[in-house]
Amino acid sequence: MLGRKLIVAAVACFLPVFAQAAGGGGHIETVHIQPDNKASLQRGARTYVNYCIGCHSLKYLRYNRMAEDLGLPADIVEDNLIFTSNEDGEHHKVTDMMHSSMTTEYAKGAFGVAPPDLSLIARSRGIDWLYTYLTTFHIDESRTRYWP
Ligand code: HEC
Repeated sequence: MLGRKLIVAAVACFLPVFAQAAGGGGHIETVHIQPDNKASLQRGARTYVNYCIGCHSLKYLRYNRMAEDLGLPADIVEDNLIFTSNEDGEHHKVTDMMHSSMTTEYAKGAFGVAPPDLSLIARSRGIDWLYTYLTTFHIDESRTRYWP
């Protein structure tokens, strides 16, 4: 579960968190994150840019803002944490917004629904909801499956 906490922490800390759990019927877990734990946030960001951004943009956030928030030099982020490209196939720069390389059309064809942008997810849903989602979506029958 540690990995998921790191991702929640990273996603939550990309933007300030004001909202609490939005609820929605089911049981919501309480997550304890340490927003001042930079190493933990950096590992969460690494996981996000290696996996999640393949489908989910953070389109209201620039890579260099992430670098600043995580205490990382911009050139380190540019060289090691950017794996996305623009629609012309050019590698994103550290000053670019964090768009996924996957097009909406492709995503709809593949998953039946476009993966939502997650820039504001912690603010809109709350960190407890986010943690609960990440630890239960695979057992929630109402959720989209990404595997056969
Ligand atoms: C292969 C594509 C893919 C990858 C990779 C992926 N997701 Fe998703 N994700 C989706 C799709 C599609 C949905 C929408 C599911 C639905 O509407 O039922 C989704 C939904 C979500 C939601 C719920 C958003 C909401 O408001 O309901 C969260 C949170 C989320 N993903 C987080 C993540 C995180 C964090 C990662 C990386 C660890 C990740 N996802 C990796 C495709 C992906």
